[in-house]
Amino acid sequence: MSTTYKINLSSQGTAIKSLFTGYLIVIAIGYLMALVQIQFTHGMADGKLGISVDDIVYSYYGKRSGSVIESQLNGSMKAMASEKDRLKIINWVRKGANEKAFHDNGIRKIMDTNCIACHSAASGLPIPDFTKFEDVVKVSETDTGISFSSLARVSHIHLFGIAFIFMFVGLIFSLASGISKALKSTVIVMPYIFLVIDIASWWLTKLNPHFAWLVIIGGGSMALSFAFMWIVSIYEMWILPRIREDDRNALLDE
Ligand code: HEC
Repeated sequence: MSTTYKINLSSQGTAIKSLFTGYLIVIAIGYLMALVQIQFTHGMADGKLGISVDDIVYSYYGKRSGSVIESQLNGSMKAMASEKDRLKIINWVRKGANEKAFHDNGIRKIMDTNCIACHSAASGLPIPDFTKFEDVVKVSETDTGISFSSLARVSHIHLFGIAFIFMFVGLIFSLASGISKALKSTVIVMPYIFLVIDIASWWLTKLNPHFAWLVIIGGGSMALSFAFMWIVSIYEMWILPRIREDDRNALLDE
């Protein structure tokens, strides 16, 4: 007869537990940072902090009643220029983004002072270069949200990156002992399903703003399954063994 040993989290040595815990903590901080970043980019799309369905529609489908530069100046670029200068730029765009007026009305000067520190080839950022008039004109056209090429770029980065993160989070969690097999398999596979739904919903929202709520459901459910695996894994590594120890000591005392 063979004896089968069950590998579980609570019986691991301190070295492995420390390794797993270090990884889980850094990934959790990374997750929080991602949420902070989302607040500053998408969250500000409607000019107010905090993610809303409007933010998601503006980011992916666009704010088709106005130009990209106008919605950015009322959104995540709001802090980059004074109220007066922002209105000056917006007025110039609404009047047709004319090249002569660009120089005569001082728009060039505002951009040189407030924008080109980041919006130029020198900054190395993948954002429009406002030292070039053509790039300013491009963002003065109707806001149709994120471009397909940017969408393809962020999609593949997210699919590869997040799948990798959940590989290890799922592996660690798969060693939990206090969760039924069915629940465990469900929670492990959930982030992958919601990741695909989340990314698919970006593309759907780009085409039709009614899919914006699916972005929130996909992203939110992914975060929930992450939190569940994280809490159970940490609990079984550090708290459960102590509870077992206390129980054993209590029995020995009797
Ligand atoms: C501190 C750096 C920085 C400064 C200064 C800055 N921007 Fe930006 N801008 C960014 C970054 C980063 C993005 C891309 C992320 C985002 O949309 O928030 C961006 C995006 C934009 C976009 C959207 C581009 C696109 O193709 O979607 C517009 C329009 C824009 N900025 C306008 C301005 C204007 C106008 C100013 C000056 C009044 C300005 N920005 C100043 C960093 C900056």
